[in-house]
Amino acid sequence: MRKSENKAIERLLKYLEYVKNKKAEGQNYVFSHELADFVGVTPAQVRQDLMDFKIEGTPQKGYPVESFFDEVCSHLKCDSRTKIVLVGVGNLGKAILSYFVKRKPNLEIVAAFDSDQEKSDRIYSGTKILNVSELYNFVKKERVKVGIITTPADSAQDIADILIKAGIRGIVNFAPITIKVPESVFLEQIDITLSIEKTAYFAEKIAGEK
Ligand code: NAI
Repeated sequence: MRKSENKAIERLLKYLEYVKNKKAEGQNYVFSHELADFVGVTPAQVRQDLMDFKIEGTPQKGYPVESFFDEVCSHLKCDSRTKIVLVGVGNLGKAILSYFVKRKPNLEIVAAFDSDQEKSDRIYSGTKILNVSELYNFVKKERVKVGIITTPADSAQDIADILIKAGIRGIVNFAPITIKVPESVFLEQIDITLSIEKTAYFAEKIAGEK
């Protein structure tokens, strides 16, 4: 997947979130500048992103919320339910499980896995925790599409390999190691430490320039 496509999908997901709230508030129209402010892009970028959709907007009224939602939602397949598993139920894994529960109705963490016997066969935040030895069979049988890895770095690649072999199509990896995946699998690598380091670097640079 190209980087530009990746970014475009992120923007569409955010537009949709904004429009969903507008819809819930009973609003009928949304302006491109509102969407631009919400996402942090220019109104021109919003208009370009929406050019290929059948949404009849006008400069006076903006885009009609109803057809905006239907069009973009159908493009993003936001009605289809995606099964997700999480591997590594430690500090971060637990935080994700508690945060995520029922937040996005179409995305369901159907089970979590850990190698620690003490943590297995329990329920955490409404999600069942199984032993990691059951990961392959579970993912294959349940046709799980996405795996979230929150294990220490030294086991992340092994977990990714099991997930891929079992048929997973997307991985979100929080472990600070770049895992290798085939082209048929989408990888989202999230390195929080790197983001903080990068921000610190730019903050110091900007401060030095003043
Ligand atoms: P943790 O030590 O609290 O949890 C790791 C969990 O993974 C434990 O429950 C452990 O039993 C399990 N585990 C270990 N090997 C496994 C395997 N082969 N299969 C299944 N489960 C296994 O660690 P924490 O803090 O939750 O961090 C997890 C990962 O996320 C690490 O790679 C860390 O660098 C990264 N991370 C953590 C952040 C945080 O705020 N805690 C922030 C950003 C990244």
